[in-house]
Order: sequence, then C-alpha cells, then structure tokens
Amino acid sequence: MFKRFRRTRINETLRSLVKETTLSSNDFIYPLFVKEGMGIKNEISSMPGVFQMSIDEILKECAYIRTIGLNSIILFAIPDTKDSIGSECLCEHSIISRTIKAIKKEFPDMFVVTDLCFCEYTDHGHCGILDENSTVNNDATLEISQTQALIHARAGADMIAPSGMMDGIIEALRTALDANGFENLPIMAYSTKFASAYYGPFRDVAESSPSKGDRKMYQMDPANRLEAIEESLEDERQGADILMVKPALAYLDVIREIRNASKLPLAIYNVSGEYAMLQAAKKAGIIDYERVMMETLLGFKRAGANIIISYHAKEACELLNKR
Ligand code: PBG
Ligand code: ZN
Repeated sequence: MFKRFRRTRINETLRSLVKETTLSSNDFIYPLFVKEGMGIKNEISSMPGVFQMSIDEILKECAYIRTIGLNSIILFAIPDTKDSIGSECLCEHSIISRTIKAIKKEFPDMFVVTDLCFCEYTDHGHCGILDENSTVNNDATLEISQTQALIHARAGADMIAPSGMMDGIIEALRTALDANGFENLPIMAYSTKFASAYYGPFRDVAESSPSKGDRKMYQMDPANRLEAIEESLEDERQGADILMVKPALAYLDVIREIRNASKLPLAIYNVSGEYAMLQAAKKAGIIDYERVMMETLLGFKRAGANIIISYHAKEACELLNKR
C-alpha cells in the first residue's frame, strides 16, 4: 500500500486548506533611502524600483505604501557630509531625525524602524570609529552608538536596529535607552550578520563602501553555522527583542537553526544582491519574476522567519492585494 499524496492536491480550495505557510502584507518591512534635497528620486541602476529619495519624496512613498497595507519601513540615510566619526548622525538636526519627524507628523501610525550604523556617515566607510591601525574600535563605537540611538528615539523612531556588528551593542543601547525614558522602545538586532558579497548593490545606494579593507573583522564568516547561533543567542541574552539573519537566501539553514534555538521573533534581511539578481533575471527575460519572487519570500517564512525585510515588499504587497 502506498500513499496517494495527490488526494490533498485535487483543487485550489483543498490546497489552501492544507497550506502550511502563507504570506501577508503584515510580514514585511520595506527599506527606504533618504537623501538631502527636494524632489530627488534617483533610481539605482542595479536595483530597478529602488531609489534614493529626498524627504518630500519619502513622504509620497509612505502615502502610497499605506494604501497597499504596507505599514512598516526601515530607514537608511545618505548624508551630504561625512567625517571620521560620522558626526552628522550624532546631532539632533541629522537627516535621519528630520526624516523620522516628517514621517511621524504626517503618518503617526507608520511603523518606523531605523538602521543604526556609521558606515553611511563616515568618510572611511567603516561601521564605527577607527583606531590608529585602521581597525574598528569596538568599545568607542558602542559609546557613539548610544548617542545615535537616543537621537533616533527622540525623533520618534518606533524600533532601533543596530547593524554594525559591534560586540555588546544590544546591552549598550538597552542601557542608554532605559536610562533616558525609552524602556518601551524595542531593539531589533542584526544579530547574525555575515560578511557577504551580496551587500554590493546596497553600498552603491547608501554610498557606504569601505574605502580600505573589508568588514571581516566585525561581520561573520559565511562558513560558520554554530557561531551564527551563538551570535543571535548572545543578543537575546543582552536584551534584543527581535533577532535577525542577514543575508537570507544563502542562509536558510541558519534561519531554521535560530528559529529552533530561540523563542524570540525572527527577522530576515533579503538583501540588495538577492533583489538585484532577480531583477537582472527579469530584465533578461529568463524567469517569471513575480512567481519566483513570491516563492522566494515564502521560502523565508517556511525556513522560520516572522518578519521579512525586503526591497520586494512593495511589489509583493501589490500582488497580495490583487488576490
Ligand atoms: C550597514 C548595512 C548594510 C546593509 C544593511 N545595513 C551594509 C553592510 O553591512 O555593508 C546591507 C543591506 C543590503 O545589502 O540590502 N551596516
Ligand atoms: Zn555599517
């Protein structure tokens, strides 16, 4: 006797009843890149559909994505001025503060996550302050990260997501936030973040490539699975509210392992290079882009993700609305 699996595949209704994983517009966080100026909307050549936008254009984008049920964004800022310590993001009038305030004023219930890092703000493009020997000084970076976090919090950010892979960052931010009346502000840790070549297109959008060296001293080795679990569990211990695996596609095993090792909500970051590959294949006419995109996003959820940070979020929500 053998089992006839096709009995539960005979029509769409039954297939829907036995479906184990679904996507909804509530699953997504949409990345947006803000640049100084007015009326600016520059498309990134390797990432069709992704733009550097001035604040006025960001507001238009927010108005639109709300109509398709997309209510969460993660903000990255591209400042006009850079220096060795990223001073631009350490003052109350930084571009990120002005953007958060503008969004919250017009759309108070939009959920605004901020990426907290220094690579967009430093002239050397590293994710923190450098020592004399050009390595990132972990503990000095923790201190200025606390300042950056308070600036995001005071501007009205709903959640802070530190992406620099500094050791001890979650504890440092939690302490600073709690001491300043932000004990209810959640932290989404970029807890397991690999030193990945898939970030290439992002660094073009964010203008954040390191001028010298790479990020292997602070980001993880793609070869390490056990360390990947330890990294996330350590951030949980320090007080992270949400964990993350980044990139996503080449790390589905890690997503599943962390899902099994922790009870915290788990986000994945479907990064720029992953998006660019599907867009390039679409342009070349070699895939059914929409189906491949939805299958990919579903795969992240099946692997164990609760939250999907993706440049596809807008297109995915548009499709989900049509169904
Ligand atoms: C900044 C940061 C990066 C990404 C998110 N935050 C780039 C990096 O670490 O070099 C990558 C996002 C993407 O590739 O889409 N630390
Ligand atoms: Zn960085």
